Amino acid sequence: MNIKNITEIQDQALQEVEAASDADALEAVRIRYLGRKGLLPDLMKQLKDVEPAQRPEAGKRLNELKNAFQERFEARKTELEKAPSPADKTTFDVTLPGSWRGLGKKHPITQLMERAIEIFHSLGFTVADGPDIETAFHNFDALNHPPGHPARDETDTFYLSDGDLLRTHTSPVQVRYMLAHKPPVRIIAPGRCYRRDTPDATHSANFHQIEGLYVDRQVSLADLKGDLTHFAHEAMGPKTKVRFRPHFFPFTEPSVEVDFSCHVCAGDGCRVCKQSGWIEIAGAGIVDPNVFEAVGYDTREVTGYAFGMGLERMAMVLFGITDIRHLYENDLRYLGQF
Ligand code: DAH
Repeated sequence: MNIKNITEIQDQALQEVEAASDADALEAVRIRYLGRKGLLPDLMKQLKDVEPAQRPEAGKRLNELKNAFQERFEARKTELEKAPSPADKTTFDVTLPGSWRGLGKKHPITQLMERAIEIFHSLGFTVADGPDIETAFHNFDALNHPPGHPARDETDTFYLSDGDLLRTHTSPVQVRYMLAHKPPVRIIAPGRCYRRDTPDATHSANFHQIEGLYVDRQVSLADLKGDLTHFAHEAMGPKTKVRFRPHFFPFTEPSVEVDFSCHVCAGDGCRVCKQSGWIEIAGAGIVDPNVFEAVGYDTREVTGYAFGMGLERMAMVLFGITDIRHLYENDLRYLGQF
């Protein structure tokens, strides 16, 4: 080590401090020179090997190096702290077009559900809901399903290990609501349902229904027909025809199935309605007295109608969707059309 050496090292060190472009780089320079294993402590150790005549001068120069370094280091540090971050420095051309990320859309089922809620709201219905995981009591027993009823079968219903199940329809919400509220009742209950169906163009193991329940003095089948016909006209268009066919459900007597004329072909027959001109939309009927007894309503005081409509069917006809699976494949290019 000699004096000339120290001067060179100092020049180099100060240059590096100046070149450090951020706090991390600057700290790395400091460690390289002043750190415990850095260059300067190392030079200090070598002082004892310097010729005695030159030692005081070398020691003085080393101290100067250290001070100069520290001074420049602090100055650079303050400078970097004040400097704008690289992001602030970027200038951009305000006349360039922005990047368009596209607007989100509601899923067709959500659109239809919201519209249905709106229509029934105008008829005085409020929205009720219940859990997707149901007890057999709410899903079957209270709805007058006898013990051996085929709908209870494991081949049709998803059971959980504790005996509860994924609701197979929205009808258990009727039971829950009536157990908690006295009549009169006027509710709809939209929601998800689950059945062990093999998926194909018109079946999905997971689908949506809207349940309706109207209980008061002297509610009749005429009220049901009037309200569902009004709904069909509002939801599907004023030309929609509505047809009621006798049917059977354990929880209604009499029971009907409700068909809407096909929206796609206006009743002429097409692929969507399988050439019949009609689409089966809902099951409905007059609430069976056994259901009222299960929830503690007085069957001499009140009567009621109930219905359960399939939302997927309606969405398919309304939007011209030919395969129910398209609704659940989450292809945004497809779903974005509606
Ligand atoms: N829960 C029935 C189903 O999923 C539909 C239904 C029929 C609901 C008659 C009702 C009703 O409320 O009264 O097939």
